[in-house]
Parts: sequence; C-alpha cells; structure tokens
Amino acid sequence: MKAAFLSASGELGGAERVLLDLLAALRQAEPAWELHLVAGAEGPLPREAERLGVAVHLLTLPAALARLGDAQLAAGRSRLSLLPSLVAAGPTGVLWLRRLHAILRRIGPDVVHTNGFKMHVLGALALPAGARLVWHVHDYVGSRALMSRMLCRLAGRCSAAICISRSVAEDVRAVCGPVPIHVVHNAVDLERFSPDGPALALDDLAGLPAAPEGAVRVGLVATMGVWKGHAVFLRTIAQLEEAARVRGYIVGGAIYSTRGSEVDVGELRRLAEELGIADRVGFTGFVAEPAAAMRALDVVVHASTQPEPFGLVIAEAMACGRAVVASAAGGAAELVRDGVDALAVPPGDVVALAGAISRLAGDAALRARLGEAGREKAVREFDRARLAAQVGRIYRELAEG
Ligand code: GLC
Repeated sequence: MKAAFLSASGELGGAERVLLDLLAALRQAEPAWELHLVAGAEGPLPREAERLGVAVHLLTLPAALARLGDAQLAAGRSRLSLLPSLVAAGPTGVLWLRRLHAILRRIGPDVVHTNGFKMHVLGALALPAGARLVWHVHDYVGSRALMSRMLCRLAGRCSAAICISRSVAEDVRAVCGPVPIHVVHNAVDLERFSPDGPALALDDLAGLPAAPEGAVRVGLVATMGVWKGHAVFLRTIAQLEEAARVRGYIVGGAIYSTRGSEVDVGELRRLAEELGIADRVGFTGFVAEPAAAMRALDVVVHASTQPEPFGLVIAEAMACGRAVVASAAGGAAELVRDGVDALAVPPGDVVALAGAISRLAGDAALRARLGEAGREKAVREFDRARLAAQVGRIYRELAEG
C-alpha cells in the first residue's frame, strides 16, 4: 500500500494533529506501507512526520492560495472561489497544481488522502490515474456556499469521505450526495495525553502572581478561531463570585495564516480589563505541549459558540483525566455524556457555563469522578490504534475494489 497525504498547513491545528496521529499509528500497525506527506508549508507537521519515517515533500502553496481561507469566503469578503482564484494566482497557481500532479505521479499512490477543504479540491484536480481519493473531512462545509459548490462538483472523483463525526457526515451527505461516507471519530495519543506527566506553571506563563491557596484552575484550551468562545469564557469568569476562587486561563495562540479567522488576543485582554477580571484570568499564549497545560488545570473548558465538528480538546482533556465542560452541539455532543464523563452546556450560554464551573469548583469529588470516567472513555474510544485500524480497512477496501 502506498498512501499520499496532502495538507495545506504545516502547523499543528486539530486537523493536522489528527493527521500526525494517524501517520504514527499507521506506521506502527502497517510498517510495510509506504507513507508520503505533501505539505503546503514548512512547520511542525512535516518535521514530525519526517521523524516518524514518512517521506515528506514540501510544495509551498503560493501566498494567494495559502491566504484564501473559507472564513473570507463565508464572510463574502472575497467573491472568488478556489478555482478562479487558482487561475487568478496566475502561472504560479497553475504551476503549483502541475507540480502537485507530478509529485503524485512519481509516488504512484494507491490512495491520496486529503486534509482540509483546500486540499480536497486541489487533490481532486491533481489526482493521478489509478489513485483513489479519500477526503478526511474535519469541518462543516454546508455553511460555506462556494466551497460546497466546489466539493459537490468534484465529489464524483472522491472514493471515500472519512467524516470525524456523525454530525459532519450528515453535512457532507447533504452537500455532496452519494459520496461513500465513513464516520471515524478522531483519536489521541494516550501516552502523551495522560494524567501523569509534567504540568506547566500557568501563572508564570501568563505573567500573573501565583494563584491563591485553594484556587481552582479553569482553562479554555483552544486555537484562536473566532467561534471557540473566548469572549463567552471571559464573560463567564466575570459572572463567578470571587468566593468561588476560580482562576481562569486562556491557553493558546494564533497559528493559522488565513486572515480574518482568528480572534485577536489584544482585544481579549481589553475585554478582561473591561470586565474587571484581568487579575483573575491569565493568557498563556501558544503552548507547544497542551497535555502539560491540561494537567495544570482542574477543569478544562470547551466553549465553542457554534456546533463543533468534533472538538479534539474534549478527547485530549478526558485522556488527561481532567473534569471537562463541553459546549455540546454538533460532533462534540457525540463525545460526552452529561454528568457521567463531562458536564454539557449549550453553546454560548454564559449562565449555564458559569453554573457548571461553579458546581465543579465547589466539588472536588465530582471533578475526580468525571476525570476518571473521562480517562476510561478515552482509553476505550479514543485510542489512535483504533483510528489506524478503521482507516487502514478503508484503504484496503479501496485498493481491492
Ligand atoms: C477541525 C474541527 C474540530 C476538530 C479538528 C480535528 O479543526 O473544527 O472540531 O476537533 O478539526 O478533527
């Protein structure tokens, strides 16, 4: 089996993290398979893939393509769809596509596995003869009018759409019609995301004085995506009584180059000032080792304001044995059982989130119980060996069929 993976980004956001875990798990389960990664940018993804023994091909996306994200398309700020913009990127865009096709032809893969909408489209356009196209769908496409149209038009070239949740699968089915769909929940590295291991000094990182004795540490761990609920989190902390002795942390920093899709940390700091909680909330900035940040927290909050396609942070925090509060809509709702392995709240609901956090802040036994149940669920359901087995089976079926 030869598989070529395509990623536009070289950074490690959720979708790339999952790709890297899939590569690691496939390496282990199928040592004889030849794995290639074509990356559109330098960064930790291609570096770590190389360390795993994956053959890495760097094909830097032209700036015009790299910057053109769906956030712009959705916001109607750009009237260009990907194809015209490829042409608009002129000879560079077309040349890039030709080079992608040439690399793929040289590899001669059985399967071309694409990550992210841009690569679903570009991979479909550059697919070499004899290769099967697999879209690994990490986000909802239905709300993105232009991207939906593109994928719909190219769906005939796709042999399998791996969807990270049932919720994403429904969306893909509605947009793309009869593409063969497989729901494969994400997985995490259970050794890295484990209750035992080093914990970060969050106060030092955030430049805050040490939290008072007995403080309960509650953190939103997320990329800086505009819908990850940073403002909701800050407003929630502002609602809590000082006596609850909660110290909040916003863990994360900007990573994606797509303009307009990330919140500005400066603005969030100003909001914290306005809300009068600047001394109760720390901003750690980007952390390379999220597990160590989670281990330093008593409660990990997921506060997305829109239905979350999956919510990797929920699985990671469970694997670290933390008490989790999740914004339960979309795929995220498939991951939690309210009161059993996490607390679930409706997206954007500050009052409900404040209620859940106060409850956990005042009840160490509940935190411990949810944390233990979370770890057990992660071991049972989010092991990356399961991910590799499911994806491997799909490749085999395609190669044989
Ligand atoms: C995307 C989704 C997120 C998911 C991640 C990994 O970033 O928005 O919900 O956890 O991919 O699949």
